[in-house]
Amino acid sequence: MFNKQTIKDIKFKGKTVLVRVDYNVPLKDGKITSDLRIKASLPTLEYLISGGAKKIILISHLGRPEGTKVSELSLKPVAGALANLVSVPVTFISDVSGPDVEEGIKKAPKGSIVLLENLRFWPGEEKNSSDFAREIVESVNADFFVQDGFAVIHRAHASTDAITRELPSVAGLLVEKEVSVLSSAISNPKKPVLVIIGGAKVEDKQPLIDKFLPIADKIYVGGKIASDGYKPNSEKIVVAADFKTDSEGNKLDISDSDTEKLLELVAGAKTIVWNGVLGKVEDKPFDEASLKLAEAIGVRDDLTSVICGGDTAGYVENLIETRPELKYSLVSTGGGASLELLSGLELPGLEALEDK
Ligand code: 3PG
Repeated sequence: MFNKQTIKDIKFKGKTVLVRVDYNVPLKDGKITSDLRIKASLPTLEYLISGGAKKIILISHLGRPEGTKVSELSLKPVAGALANLVSVPVTFISDVSGPDVEEGIKKAPKGSIVLLENLRFWPGEEKNSSDFAREIVESVNADFFVQDGFAVIHRAHASTDAITRELPSVAGLLVEKEVSVLSSAISNPKKPVLVIIGGAKVEDKQPLIDKFLPIADKIYVGGKIASDGYKPNSEKIVVAADFKTDSEGNKLDISDSDTEKLLELVAGAKTIVWNGVLGKVEDKPFDEASLKLAEAIGVRDDLTSVICGGDTAGYVENLIETRPELKYSLVSTGGGASLELLSGLELPGLEALEDK
């Protein structure tokens, strides 16, 4: 199923490994409000640490500073959060190439992690510049490149594409897991397959609906797309018909009877792909349908369940923090990346890695 080499295929003991992670975490007043993406990088980091990597150098972007230094988008706080989750020291360096990086890496203890500054402070990152990629590789003096930033793998940037022409490049464990589970949902799913679509932007979700039409047994459309009057083009597609409203008449969640119908579909499914919340989940009680759905999926252990899309994954991830009994096959870290993969588009950062 996964046809790229991974860190399990390389001998990295005693080597310096450059790892692209996606630490594009949500921030509020300088504080990280969800560490899902940091935690999701731990299996790869722990594998490299326990396998005896000499140094692990991490690169990532944060936000969209568009080639300039924006101090609020520094990765420094992320280094602090990471240090609390791993067993080795974490050093932060406020550059991505040049003498400070060379010196900082030399001084970092053997077996430790070094996180470099936000790649998007430099225009070369989004321009997919080979020079920018080469400067990073030469400064960190790495032996291998590992792509583990699943959420950014749909971008052709210096740290996802150009850099793979500078070093032998393989996938990390997060990329392997995300791509394997998401691909199996479209290529070899256990039947019946139920796809649940919510959220607001029909132009983002239509390619997903089109891709799943021949694969799914049912596609359920809720959320703002449904309340805005989505018109299905197939009998397989069920669209929520009634909605709960606020005092001004805004339709903010699907009705109880629509939720019941959806839960009946869930009970009969063996594969569920859920992308997009069903209501305005941040505004109680308009999270009710999404909550009931998350519970109905999470209690089943005979089901392949894929939760994807930034808002849906964030919602479910928050829920799991207080309800650890709820289990899902995959809560994807990728917003656009998972949508593009499921829609059948090529992912440049994946294509660029060494084949098996
Ligand atoms: C994401 O949050 O979806 C990824 O980190 C990619 O970020 P981008 O949409 O700014 O490229």
